[in-house]
Amino acid sequence: MLEKEINKRRTFGIISHPDAGKTTLTEKLLLFGGAIQKAGTVKRNKAEKTATSDFMEIEKQRGISVATSVMGFEYKDIKINILDTPGHKDFAEDTYRTLTAVDSVILVVDCVKGVEEQTRKLMQVCRMRHTPVIIFINKMDREGKDPFDLLEELEKELNISTRPLSWPIGIGHTFKGVYQLHKKSLNLYSPNKKEIADDVIAISDLNQPELDQMLGEHAANKLREEAELIEEVAEPFDLGLYRSGYLAPVFFGSAINNFGVQELLDTFIEIAPTPQGREANLRPIEPQEAKFTGFVFKIHANLDPNHRDRIAFCRITSGTFLRNTFYYHTRLDKKLKFASPTSFMADNKSLVEEAYPGDVIGLYDAGNFKIGDTLTEGEKLQFLGIPSFSPEIFRELENTDPMKTKQLEKGINQLSDEGVAQLFTVNPGNRKIIGTVGELQFEVIQFRLKQEYGASCIFRPLNFSKSSWVSATTPAAMQQFLKAQASRIGYDKENRPVFFSSSQWDLEYTAKQFPEISFHDTSEWD
Ligand code: G4P
Repeated sequence: MLEKEINKRRTFGIISHPDAGKTTLTEKLLLFGGAIQKAGTVKRNKAEKTATSDFMEIEKQRGISVATSVMGFEYKDIKINILDTPGHKDFAEDTYRTLTAVDSVILVVDCVKGVEEQTRKLMQVCRMRHTPVIIFINKMDREGKDPFDLLEELEKELNISTRPLSWPIGIGHTFKGVYQLHKKSLNLYSPNKKEIADDVIAISDLNQPELDQMLGEHAANKLREEAELIEEVAEPFDLGLYRSGYLAPVFFGSAINNFGVQELLDTFIEIAPTPQGREANLRPIEPQEAKFTGFVFKIHANLDPNHRDRIAFCRITSGTFLRNTFYYHTRLDKKLKFASPTSFMADNKSLVEEAYPGDVIGLYDAGNFKIGDTLTEGEKLQFLGIPSFSPEIFRELENTDPMKTKQLEKGINQLSDEGVAQLFTVNPGNRKIIGTVGELQFEVIQFRLKQEYGASCIFRPLNFSKSSWVSATTPAAMQQFLKAQASRIGYDKENRPVFFSSSQWDLEYTAKQFPEISFHDTSEWD
């Protein structure tokens, strides 16, 4: 029974540089799955285009996005869970953490722009975790780059082998459709298809003369040549290599025109991995284990002052989760039960009675959870692989209302539990350094400290651009390092030492001076 539920599920994230078409593709997938009836539903979820300073607007949109943080739908008897990842770079950390809860990703690339900054960063995170990736090259109706050049760029810049499973016929104003290399079928393009599937024409042999009639002789010959070239030079599609994150199958299409989306979805459910196990400190946990385990990867605060509760998003790793059953919160050493766990289907929320590996449930929380927390049926284990990443902007927090010191302390601790920012303590003086990936978070923190905790603060700029977690070959070497660099050492919330550097050069220079010290970009390392 559990095995059947596991095999039925696929949990994945769609990632892209802003504007490549993530929202549009998500929406089209939901349309195919029948989860929404018309285009435009997911658009509301977008925060990317909001002016950076307008964080209230972003928070408002985040509020709307609670329901769409996870979008579940059924397609051909498969339960698909799409985990939404914010495209705005200031929320990148949220995206990195969400990627801990997926089993694979679809990466959307704009054919005009190719690989962009966020594409690179997100792929680094995927590679670190060996997450299987399918690439969807979007906007083929625009005058984009040559598809061979695009493949080369993807391989070089993203450090992954690629294998086209579909191939475009023309591009921009000459775009005629895509040929499914593995299925040997042709999809002819007609713009502005809103809801129905494309007409698919089986082409058992590219040399058949009908192809010339359909595409014109020039385009048909070009397709023949290119298809032959791909078979000669491209890696064969190897499921094992895809599943272990080394080979990315590539599709071409146009999300806005609903083109190439169904082929993507059909192949996705065929090849994407079923819910996978996760590493924990005591042992690896397999989804088939009868006992329930899960971890919290995202916490969503409710900004409405009348409803102060938060929603903790828990990914189920093993066993069956049941409503109103006591589970063990391993960090707090405490049993908790949940009366109204929530599941999400596109823009609907509903009460869940039970949930299975791969599912994501929302747990209403009054402050028990922080990101990375583990729930079990009693075993005291902790899931790994939900690391913190080095922030990019650092500021010192200064209390401007001494009467509210306690509130400030509490507020900043809770906000960092939610993952809004990272908090480091620097001694002497118990000074607080806040690290974020974007400017926006500082405004959010200031606003929320005031509104929710009544505390006031300002931020002083610091000349740091990176924090590295450190380890040493011997305790004595660590002591020596901490002493020598005291002014640039802070402690994270788990009291692990971090080293602040002002640039990559600065970090490398220090590393040379202290060969016994290792510097780590994330809070977990081997
Ligand atoms: P994002 O979530 O990755 O940020 O991207 P989103 O889907 O919002 O798409 C960004 C822009 O690209 C949108 O246009 C969208 O309509 C357009 N787009 C998406 N897919 C395609 C495609 O296949 N072809 C073409 N030509 N455009 C595409 P916009 O004008 O910025 O926004 P909107 O006014 O359409 O909402």
